[in-house]
Amino acid sequence: MKKIVVLVSGGGTNLQALIDAERAGEIKGGRITCVISSNPSAYALQRAADNGIPSRVIPRREYPDSVSYSKAVLEALNEEKADLVVLAGFMTILDECVTKAYAYKIINVHPALIPSFCGEGFYGLKVHEAVLEYGVKVSGATIHFVNEKADAGAIILQGTVDVRREDTPETLQRRIMENVEWKLLPKAVSLFCEDKIEISGGKAYVKE
Ligand code: GAR
Repeated sequence: MKKIVVLVSGGGTNLQALIDAERAGEIKGGRITCVISSNPSAYALQRAADNGIPSRVIPRREYPDSVSYSKAVLEALNEEKADLVVLAGFMTILDECVTKAYAYKIINVHPALIPSFCGEGFYGLKVHEAVLEYGVKVSGATIHFVNEKADAGAIILQGTVDVRREDTPETLQRRIMENVEWKLLPKAVSLFCEDKIEISGGKAYVKE
């Protein structure tokens, strides 16, 4: 059984999707063993507690910079003996001390179709605001490995939704979460835990 450590900062609906999938037997070969939050008041912590999952809080604001914060996260991941790290609404960019130590072992969910609307500054509702401002007709979410550049690691899965004229950032976010994020994140995690993701030439492929 691979040990899955989930990093969160907010509401934790993606964490909930992972918990529900695990309960339903849909995460084959893996178990969520710890939740780490950058935000002491994240509702995701309540979701972990409600489901008997141990949690840790490593408050981002207690560290002067990304490097010192990432070192603290790295120490916790090592202590937890994480086989897979999932960033599920984790709003802090991790320094390369973490991404190098856990190369191809960190999975992120990004709420747009990478390489559009991604990178530094594109997170949460800001992504959907930018999508509506541009006027694109299709958006979605991307599940990808995390490397040294923000939102630039190998893509594992992507899914789309149509953008509607009457959409607000909130309605678009909700439709993308329901139709793409909550389905594809557990799926990618299960594929990883079953050793069904192959890396070749820096790209990720799902094995048949
Ligand atoms: C999700 O839409 C996730 O894709 C996004 O924040 C939301 C978190 O929701 N993540 C990012 O923007 C990371 N760059 P949740 O806390 O309910 O899972």
